[in-house]
Amino acid sequence: MHLKQGIVLVGFMGAGKSSVGQRLAERFSVPFVDTDAELERRAGRKISEIFTSDGEAAFRALETETLAALEIKPAVYATGGGIVTRPENWPLLKRLGTVVHLHGSAEVLFDRVKHETHRPLLRTENPRDTFETLLRTREALYRQADLTVDTDGRIPETIVESIVAAVARLQ
Ligand code: S3P
Repeated sequence: MHLKQGIVLVGFMGAGKSSVGQRLAERFSVPFVDTDAELERRAGRKISEIFTSDGEAAFRALETETLAALEIKPAVYATGGGIVTRPENWPLLKRLGTVVHLHGSAEVLFDRVKHETHRPLLRTENPRDTFETLLRTREALYRQADLTVDTDGRIPETIVESIVAAVARLQ
């Protein structure tokens, strides 16, 4: 299938946006664009450094700037888990193409990230509590996506096939 417009993956930390996104881009033979990587490239700094020295609000401002500067093309875009929290990001996400929410349960998502250390928002006394609270507050926001794909207990390849089938119906 030929991709007419972009696919934008949103979802919480651990949802698999990067691993699924890379495979999806290969499947459609289009570029893969990661907003976190793009932000770090533009800022010339790691996200964890930006959080530590300038705080989350400064990171969010850079995230919106990065999103607004992206070229609109048939590509697969993976986004940072919190990109959905700023209302002004939604039209910017939707202008890139079909927005797909990669959904997962708190247990499965936490299991995927618990051994990783690069996520500044989880550097708290009780990362598990922080994770669940944040997930709860964001769940309603992810529902603004054009479609939702469940990821629990599924490998990236089968998630890719679900997205391909759903996008074929939509685009
Ligand atoms: C964030 C998620 C991260 C990154 C930043 C903030 C969040 O991306 O953008 O650390 O607010 O959930 P991933 O979802 O790729 O981990």
